[in-house]
Amino acid sequence: MQITKGGYKVHPDCKRVLISENEIRAKVMELGRRISNDYAGKELLMVGILKGAMIFLADLVREISIPTQYDFMAVSSYGASSKSSGKVRILRDLPCGVAGRHIIIVEDIVDTGLTLNSLAKDLNSRDPASVKICTLLDKPSRRIEPVEIYYKGFVIPDEFVVGYGLDYSDRYRNLPCIMVLHPKVYMDKGE
Ligand code: PRP
Repeated sequence: MQITKGGYKVHPDCKRVLISENEIRAKVMELGRRISNDYAGKELLMVGILKGAMIFLADLVREISIPTQYDFMAVSSYGASSKSSGKVRILRDLPCGVAGRHIIIVEDIVDTGLTLNSLAKDLNSRDPASVKICTLLDKPSRRIEPVEIYYKGFVIPDEFVVGYGLDYSDRYRNLPCIMVLHPKVYMDKGE
């Protein structure tokens, strides 16, 4: 049985650990320091995109040493209709206006870029002071729409990853690190 650096067993549905808990922790600390320096003297609004970004956001905000608020948005997964309109459907919007605010959109992963491309345009249209994107994972080989990622944790290969907020069929989000899902799990479902 494979054991992660944090002493956690590799989930039986997974092939291996791609990014360990220690590596995630170190990266989150580094990103928190960078953000705190870059926004010194300003006030931040971190916007986590549900559900995947919840765990990353929770860890990241605790590494930020400047005044910071956070909130969440939820968007529909990209279906055929949103692809043709180029817009994601917002299922939960921010409860307050963002005019004049410094926003960082926090994501667990940028894959095709369709979600973030659309969301960044949407938030930019609300007259904020600035909008930047922070993602834990970037899978550039899958990109369809360009996304300018200002804060990036790890560039990963085109493998199905779960854990630390990322799911397959809403499962595995609570794994403490990033693991590669065994293809048999989604092949069995005909995907
Ligand atoms: C994931 C991720 C991003 C989006 C990225 O969310 O959290 O929001 O997909 O993919 P894209 O770059 O191809 O648009 P998902 O729809 O899986 O929902 P979840 O966060 O609730 O798991």
